[in-house]
Amino acid sequence: MAGNWKMYKSPSETSAFFERFNPLVSGADHCEIVICPPFVDLAAAVEAVSGTRVEIGGQNLYWESEGAYTGEVAGPMLAAAGCRWVIVGHSERRQYFGESDETVLKRTLAALQAGLTPIVCVGELLEQRESGQTEAVLVRQFEGGIAGLAPEQFARITIAYEPVWAIGTGKTATPEIAADAHRVIRGQAGAKYGADAAAAVRILYGGSVKPDNVKGLMAQEEIDGALVGGASLKPDSFAAIVNYNS
Ligand code: 13P
Repeated sequence: MAGNWKMYKSPSETSAFFERFNPLVSGADHCEIVICPPFVDLAAAVEAVSGTRVEIGGQNLYWESEGAYTGEVAGPMLAAAGCRWVIVGHSERRQYFGESDETVLKRTLAALQAGLTPIVCVGELLEQRESGQTEAVLVRQFEGGIAGLAPEQFARITIAYEPVWAIGTGKTATPEIAADAHRVIRGQAGAKYGADAAAAVRILYGGSVKPDNVKGLMAQEEIDGALVGGASLKPDSFAAIVNYNS
């Protein structure tokens, strides 16, 4: 269960979040718990989760390990800061910051190189869904952004299916719609990496996941977890999502 805080919270708000959140999820050993705050909050977040099962991730990384790239952050820096995870290719990166399948692959390789687990995001736009292109888009994103990984690299990634029309809109994909998309992605994984690798890869659903819809989504065998935006900003709502099975 991963929370993507996007561009919200200061370091002191980060510390306050975990003070409330940590005890609420201390018994949640059915899943891994990850929070991805803005870069400037990483130190506060890593300190706040020390000694707990909660892990911290970045929201993006650059593919070079260091250099004259003003404004960028490298994988080894995230790892040294205490991150275990990093989101790659979020639709907001694709939409507003020119991210492409090609750069998604470069960042994914850089994350793996740094020992981080990349959460690689894919998902279709509303007009693509409405014009019946969902499957083609997912196949293209898989082919361009993921299929360049070697099998041992593929075994170390997590995938997130985030239909763009469901992000921040309150319009969750129904569990069936989400599961159908996950099957397409898993089918691609199977064709490229074999049945065992496809069965093993974790595919998270993201897009308006809330405490009141998470159970239905998680009841789908295809859905292995959630990548949560807005509802991860409040300790009680993200804890309720993490503890969906209790
Ligand atoms: P919301 O949960 O706010 O719809 O955001 C989803 C998302 O983009 C997570 O990465």
